[in-house]
Amino acid sequence: MIVRLALVLAVLLVVPAVLAGERSGAAPMARGYNGLAATPPMGWNDYNAVGLDVTEDLVRRTADTMVSSGLRDAGYRYVTIDDGWMAARRDADGNLQPDPARFPHGIAALAAYLHARGLEFGIYADAGVHTCGGLPGSLGHERADADRFAAWGVDYLKYDNCYAGPGCAANSCPDGTEQPARDRYARMRDALLSTGRPIVFSICSWGTGDVARWAAGYGNLWRTTGDITATYASLVSIFHQTVGLGDHAGPGGWNDPDMLEVGNGMTAVEDRTELTLWAALAAPLMIGTDLVHARPETLALLANPRVIAIDQDPLGRPARPVSSANGLDVLSRPLAGGDTAIVLFNETDQPATIATPAPGRTATDVWTGATTTTNGALRATVPAHGAMLYRIAG
Ligand code: GLA
Repeated sequence: MIVRLALVLAVLLVVPAVLAGERSGAAPMARGYNGLAATPPMGWNDYNAVGLDVTEDLVRRTADTMVSSGLRDAGYRYVTIDDGWMAARRDADGNLQPDPARFPHGIAALAAYLHARGLEFGIYADAGVHTCGGLPGSLGHERADADRFAAWGVDYLKYDNCYAGPGCAANSCPDGTEQPARDRYARMRDALLSTGRPIVFSICSWGTGDVARWAAGYGNLWRTTGDITATYASLVSIFHQTVGLGDHAGPGGWNDPDMLEVGNGMTAVEDRTELTLWAALAAPLMIGTDLVHARPETLALLANPRVIAIDQDPLGRPARPVSSANGLDVLSRPLAGGDTAIVLFNETDQPATIATPAPGRTATDVWTGATTTTNGALRATVPAHGAMLYRIAG
């Protein structure tokens, strides 16, 4: 089964990635263990908007909005239900089942609703005894749960790490009782592979245990930090914890600085900064706001095609720091075809001028599309908490 799956995926996914590489002159190969996620996954997840209160009605209305707003066509495809979707107990046969009040039509019907609209369906489970919200965990049930997910039509699994063994608390275990995350994630990885269904695997162990160093053989994305909040301080902290991990990520396996908080209460400048940094870092772009009630400005930020093109660049090389001092950061990211993305990020509370050598003559401001001649240097006055994003023609 695994061999057959590998062959199918090689044809469906790796070959187009190679062709894309030939077109661009680069050589992007999906290097992930399952051939999926050649570029960082994009989509929506309910958790930052509603916590544990996800319902099928919210998901359906969100899916409709993603289609009507153009976000689906901009690339946001994976619609994921986070913690809170399950009933408190497994059914009589030991299977996971949805909360009947929140999901009266069941999970397969919801997946079909999304698939009919050109979207992909993601679900959440936990590599321990309980989910972080206290619902049934998958430890010891990996094969059965993976089979159920595949039968329901799941395309993406976010796999959390609470209650990591019997006797453990949500985030800690008595000495010697924790089962290593690596082993638990491998069990679900293998269970998903054995279903034969392509399922993107999202490792959510909050950056613990040097996960970025080993995770490329285990999942398609891995969280680099604890949970994000809709604050500028959280954004800056996560940026600094993630920006040095670029060497571990690439096509098939991505650093995940957590889901977006764009639209959830930061300033317009800070919302734009989050998208700028996440795009430069080649991060998964998982919208985390209530799209049904989102303001037009929020939808426009999320849909900017030039910003998305940086995030989704097929070369798949995350930005590296060029310099970082006194709260002023310069990042550089090589792009397919010889262009370079440059970020000038002003972390401070005052406007600041940031300058850096430009590796080319023509610079496009990625947010506005305006083009200028560099004369060998980029220089901009960047607002407090702001970030400029440029594409330098190679
Ligand atoms: C953890 C994860 C979050 C979210 C919650 C759900 O905190 O890191 O992203 O999935 O659990 O309970």
